[in-house]
Amino acid sequence: MADARHYTELGLVNTKEMFKKAMAGGYAVPAYNFNNMEQLQGIIMGCVESKSPVILQVSGSARKYADPTFLPYMAMGAVQMAKALGAGIPIALHLDHGGSFELAKSCIDSGFSSVMLDGSHHPFEENAALTRQVVDYAHERDVTVEGELGVLAGVEDEVSSEASHYTKPEEVEEFVEKTGVDSLAISIGTSHGAFKFKVKPGEEVPPLRFDILEEVAKRVPGFPIVLHGASSVEPEYVKLINAFGGKMDDAVGIPVEQLRRAAQSSVCKINIDSDGRLAITAMIRKVFTENPSEFDPRKYLGPARDELIKMVKYKNEHVLGSAGQA
Ligand code: G3H
Ligand code: 13P
Ligand code: ZN
Repeated sequence: MADARHYTELGLVNTKEMFKKAMAGGYAVPAYNFNNMEQLQGIIMGCVESKSPVILQVSGSARKYADPTFLPYMAMGAVQMAKALGAGIPIALHLDHGGSFELAKSCIDSGFSSVMLDGSHHPFEENAALTRQVVDYAHERDVTVEGELGVLAGVEDEVSSEASHYTKPEEVEEFVEKTGVDSLAISIGTSHGAFKFKVKPGEEVPPLRFDILEEVAKRVPGFPIVLHGASSVEPEYVKLINAFGGKMDDAVGIPVEQLRRAAQSSVCKINIDSDGRLAITAMIRKVFTENPSEFDPRKYLGPARDELIKMVKYKNEHVLGSAGQA
């Protein structure tokens, strides 16, 4: 690869120390997804202002969108911006839901400090073997690896029919031992996107399976657990989006109280993508509705970025507990 580099050249860190501190301190490190400059700046500014460590994460398709060559320079820019703002917060660059050894390797070679190999759709042995292959390559370069066991509930399905997809605690020890992963994503009832549950008006969303989380923690004490699909889908943003021409009536997420409880447990990393998308979309819709003649990108992306900063600070301070931990 032409522009190969190690992540330390970009000023990044891996997730090892972050998770050690989060486990000891009873909080979770935020992992915010980004695709573009405004999202990246909003995340960094929010984390600098709340003095929080941060995991910047990109999916394979987000990496393609931003451009694989450009992306590491964005991360380097983020590190430099954090320093210029007066706070050297720990920043990791993480591949989210990596589907193959080749993708994980390409990310590591271009400067990622952490990668996820998501083999959760494969049978146990295949998942373990693929994850092990990535771990061997990553650890030689001091890059941390996240694996996944169990499949997150699909938004279309009845939650009860998803029971067999929850992580089986009895498989966790063997998986961790066989693969050598540094952290593990598990399925306890969260799901991706802004439409996580089908609930009738007035109905509560089904609670997360804290019993599974506790059983997992018993089997691998002190081991960092990751929660995907953990956006709370703030009703305030859904309301704004709908008020300004959007159509997201049934959007619903994980109640904040449950995320707080998870953050205080063995969950050391909480993934948030949808909430950032909602904050941005709400503001852009508002600007366009109130000023239909506006066409300067700074006039709609600027307020979107400001809202993202606000959201990130709120999450770090009041949900994950990572504020002040950098
Ligand atoms: O879990 C997936 C993340 O929300 C990223 O989604 O593949 O649309 O970038 P994406
Ligand atoms: P949300 O869709 O709930 O934000 O989940 C994001 C995620 O898990 C990224 O890996
Ligand atoms: Zn995810």
